[in-house]
Amino acid sequence: MGKWWKDVVGYQIYPSVFNDSNNDGHGDINGISDKLEYLKDLGIGLIWVGPIYRSPKVDNGYDVSDFYNIDESYGTLDDVKNMLAKAKSLGIRVIFDLVLNHTSSKHEWFIDACNNVDSKYRDYYIFKDPNDEGGRPNNWKGFFEESVWTYVPKINKYYMHIFSKEMPDLNWDNKELRQEMYKVARYWLDMGVDGFRLDAIAHLAKDKTFRDSKAYKDDLVYDPSKFSNRKELFKYLKEFKKEVLDHYDCVTIGEVGGCATTDEALKYSNYKTGYFNMVFNFDTCWENGAYGSIDKSDSEIKTNVYNLKLLFEKWYKDIDEKAWLPLYWLNHDHPRVVSQYGDIYYRKESAKMLGLTLLFMYGTPFIYQGEEIGMSNVNHKSLDMFKDVNAVNIINEYKDKYTEKEILRFLNRASRDNARSLMQWSSNQVNHGDFYLNENYKVVNVEDNLKDKDSILNFYKKIIDLRNNEYHDEAVYGKFKLIYRKNKDVFAYQKIKDKKIMVISNFRDYIVNFRDYVSENKIIMHNYKDVMVVNNKLVLRPFECYLIEII
Ligand code: GLC
Repeated sequence: MGKWWKDVVGYQIYPSVFNDSNNDGHGDINGISDKLEYLKDLGIGLIWVGPIYRSPKVDNGYDVSDFYNIDESYGTLDDVKNMLAKAKSLGIRVIFDLVLNHTSSKHEWFIDACNNVDSKYRDYYIFKDPNDEGGRPNNWKGFFEESVWTYVPKINKYYMHIFSKEMPDLNWDNKELRQEMYKVARYWLDMGVDGFRLDAIAHLAKDKTFRDSKAYKDDLVYDPSKFSNRKELFKYLKEFKKEVLDHYDCVTIGEVGGCATTDEALKYSNYKTGYFNMVFNFDTCWENGAYGSIDKSDSEIKTNVYNLKLLFEKWYKDIDEKAWLPLYWLNHDHPRVVSQYGDIYYRKESAKMLGLTLLFMYGTPFIYQGEEIGMSNVNHKSLDMFKDVNAVNIINEYKDKYTEKEILRFLNRASRDNARSLMQWSSNQVNHGDFYLNENYKVVNVEDNLKDKDSILNFYKKIIDLRNNEYHDEAVYGKFKLIYRKNKDVFAYQKIKDKKIMVISNFRDYIVNFRDYVSENKIIMHNYKDVMVVNNKLVLRPFECYLIEII
């Protein structure tokens, strides 16, 4: 089962805020190239680069207006070629984000489809006539808090978009459209990209009956089953694999998100008949309900460690030996994990603990930029500071029901903007643009982390090195087993291969009396300076963690 994408540690780059090489206020491709040595030194073997195609950037590049060219703000195609060559020389693989579900409303196909009666592109999208009363074709609500339908007066039709209205969905029933999208994928693979993270891939097929979802009143209904994991989708994926993926040594990671069970995940990615190498699920990202619960105060949002463990265990048990998983705490769609499952008052301890817990679990870990220095949520001071299209829609939806303070509290905890502030490189960082620079950059930054032996970054480096080298087989191929399973505060597990290793992580900001102390074990990593034993019990201080080899 030795595949390169199992052995590596991945790192996600969100290009607009990663590194700005020409001080124009916007991250760019040369900025990524400039940091490849940094990533190599960190032990990274695979980078996932967010969308850099030409785009009006309503949704930060996921709204693509030209799949074959690079947005000017990021640089040029030559910059991409240089970046790929440099990554290759350093032994870092590069995957791109491929957006197959929709285009930008500024894509030439869509413009033509809205303006030209005979446009062949009309069928590239999903257009419908108004209903009998002239209203929208049905009551479906999309992911970004709005109806999936937007009206185009000029042609008296509605078009479908499950994300924002500037991102019309493509019609995958259309054979020609499918071929166009395969061409896009081949183009980037031929250029030397090592694979893709496949954006919103679960949604390519829709319920073409377009029947209303059951509603209480006339309200819009959020029912993603109408456009998720549908039968026809798997036909498209089969064709995509046969016509494109099978011809390349590439890795593919589908985003199947919040609406997939482990059974569904297996359909996408099982070793025998799956279409992708792995799929991202969201289960473990939202355990504490930070999202979707504006009515809960911050103090009510407490991680249920027991549930969190069971979620990881379930995915492992259902998938082990049948498929492979990516492992991650957050991506650009989530709040910062130190703020969510950790604690900014114990930044060092909790960031290290979270890193260790993830790195030795199972699957291919993905670190999100800034996680390695403990970057935390942004303290937005007013609602007009939120830029994410989803946050803006939430503000519009909630503004009549909640006070500004309530919405602000909710979004500061849950918004995607939390992960989209500038990567903090140094305490002298100058913000040349209008992205947000978290005010803690003076103390939370790469430069200072590099100098401090005990920093979060140096801890990450060590654990990645242990995973890549000395304990590689246990970390990557060992059998995963939760231990002290019922413990409500501590996440502990073993990984067993030739050697037997154990991770013990206290997820609490208080002291936990853990278990009998066993002195003969070898402590490999620890985020406190000494071991605390009281009455022969191992005592865990706030967010204390151990990596132990059982001798
Ligand atoms: C995925 C991306 C997200 C984007 C959406 C629409 O979920 O991760 O950032 O908004 O797809 O493309």
